[in-house]
Amino acid sequence: MNATLKLTDLHPSPDDITGDVLAGLSRMPKRLPSKYFYDKRGSELFEQITHQPEYYLTRVELALLQASGAEIADEVGPRAHVVEYGSGSGRKTRILLDALDDPVAYTPIEISRSALLASVERLDREFGDVEVLPVLADFTQPVPLPKPARKAEHAFVFFPGSTLGNFTAPEALRLLRAMHQTMGDRGGALLGIDLQKSPQILEAAYNDAAGVTAAFTLNLLARLNRDIGSDFDLEGFTHCAHYAAERGRIETFLVSQKQQTVQVQGRSFDFSEGEAMQVEYSHKYTDAGFAAMAAEAELKVVRGWNDPQDWFGLRLLQRV
Ligand code: AVI
Repeated sequence: MNATLKLTDLHPSPDDITGDVLAGLSRMPKRLPSKYFYDKRGSELFEQITHQPEYYLTRVELALLQASGAEIADEVGPRAHVVEYGSGSGRKTRILLDALDDPVAYTPIEISRSALLASVERLDREFGDVEVLPVLADFTQPVPLPKPARKAEHAFVFFPGSTLGNFTAPEALRLLRAMHQTMGDRGGALLGIDLQKSPQILEAAYNDAAGVTAAFTLNLLARLNRDIGSDFDLEGFTHCAHYAAERGRIETFLVSQKQQTVQVQGRSFDFSEGEAMQVEYSHKYTDAGFAAMAAEAELKVVRGWNDPQDWFGLRLLQRV
């Protein structure tokens, strides 16, 4: 790591993968947490998903950030301390930092040490004039921010990609309440949220023709076999994603293709043929629904930008 980069380690509690998997498989219907998608291979596959023609989210959000950069900068004001939830791919961060007026510092908050360290070298190269102050922490909790060398006017949280949508409603609310704390009195936040639209467009985005999303979902089982010694048969499950309009979310499952038993750490779990195990939610928002959730976290939407088709939105939040 570059010697000039100061990493703040807040010692987030390590994930209990075995405990989470055993608990999820003991429920009915069975489920596995989507946060375990992102091992090295999973992160590569997600990056590939963002380039699939059906997966419009990344493409539309990047264009929207480009188009709205000047207006966002006017709203945010000068000398912000930009705080990103997750270390991201850098593409969106670059656009935001370039648009803002004299940003003082950039803090990616990331729970995975390897992901944070991997991004740090790139960040230092790409954002030469902005102080980079990475923090190893769980952003679903309030995070005390490091002090930049130059005084910042306020903290400005950046949470793009509709990643909020991967949390259940109570988890998302907890996360927004923590964000309220992290941003401080005069702070703000910019969130990328995927908007409700036709089921055909949504379902195509999560069932790309090249099968990259299916490979991404199945990689979860490969990861668990490697990391906790389970014996999931990768040929024995298939990816299935559908839009549940009444709940406003894509629901992704791994469906057992046969009657089978899976061993995890000496425990057996029976699957029937056709049994669906839930592995991911991707919530899609309405303006009213998102504003109501923000209000529950004592945050208000002060400004919003949508792409011309109203597929994806950026929302600027401040404390009520
Ligand atoms: C990271 N997250 C916002 C993606 C999504 O759209 O829910 C993850 C993903 N899952 C399947 N495709 C993409």
